[in-house]
Amino acid sequence: MSEGPTQPYELLDETPEFPRLPGHVVVSADANAALDALGADLFLHAKNCVRTFGDFHLALSGGSTPMPLYERLMIDPRFREFPWRRTHLWIVDERCVPFDHEKSNFRQIREMIVEHSDIPPSQVHPMLADQPDAAERYEAELREVLGWREKGHDRLDFVLLGMGDEGHTASLFPHSIAQTVTDHFVAFNRGPTVVPPDRVTMTYPLLNSARFIAALVLGKKKAQMIHRIATDVDNASEIPIKGIAPIGGELRWYLDTESARWPS
Ligand code: 6PG
Repeated sequence: MSEGPTQPYELLDETPEFPRLPGHVVVSADANAALDALGADLFLHAKNCVRTFGDFHLALSGGSTPMPLYERLMIDPRFREFPWRRTHLWIVDERCVPFDHEKSNFRQIREMIVEHSDIPPSQVHPMLADQPDAAERYEAELREVLGWREKGHDRLDFVLLGMGDEGHTASLFPHSIAQTVTDHFVAFNRGPTVVPPDRVTMTYPLLNSARFIAALVLGKKKAQMIHRIATDVDNASEIPIKGIAPIGGELRWYLDTESARWPS
């Protein structure tokens, strides 16, 4: 069996012209190379988790940035051996709309991954975000499925996050109610800063318990916020992605030179 993609990137943590973010920073020459780096790490984690635990719990975000990665996972021969049959697919956040709605994250992920992989339907976990008890139901499902793992290993293995221009991640928006939730893994989010429609989102306690968190942030539009994060002035309430701080796991940022360069 092929070992899949090698790691085609260089860690540039120590390079002074790039931002110092919490966690590891991988800066790639362009978006394609960043997706290669992330794809290689994802594949490696998937294989390692399947080898260690027998399965792999992956939580994916919506937004436009990760779509080329999802496509790549399906068509690039380097990912042919991706262990979809052993993968549980979770959704980081969802808009309160039905699955067939154009704004449904699950719709996109289903069209790009679920319909083109051999992932068993019972291992696909959409959020029924248009239901009034969506958050409780998703939390119960997470607890039940992850509960099959040995204690201590009952957490998400790999979470892919994006970041909005104003620093939101998942559906945790600045000064929003879901940011304050500490006793639940999943919560509704609504309010003046939440870009409509209302949302259901994984909360900090669940996200931060993950074994590996990948933050994929590409393009010039995001550079200003990346550098604001690095200055350490604002708190997590102002810039929600600053609340991402894994407990015992790893946070790795995947940037391209456009998002990593000081905005001119
Ligand atoms: C969503 C996401 C959200 C996203 C950011 C970045 O459902 O929209 O989970 O947190 O990652 O808004 O979105 P872009 O990749 O489109 O910039």
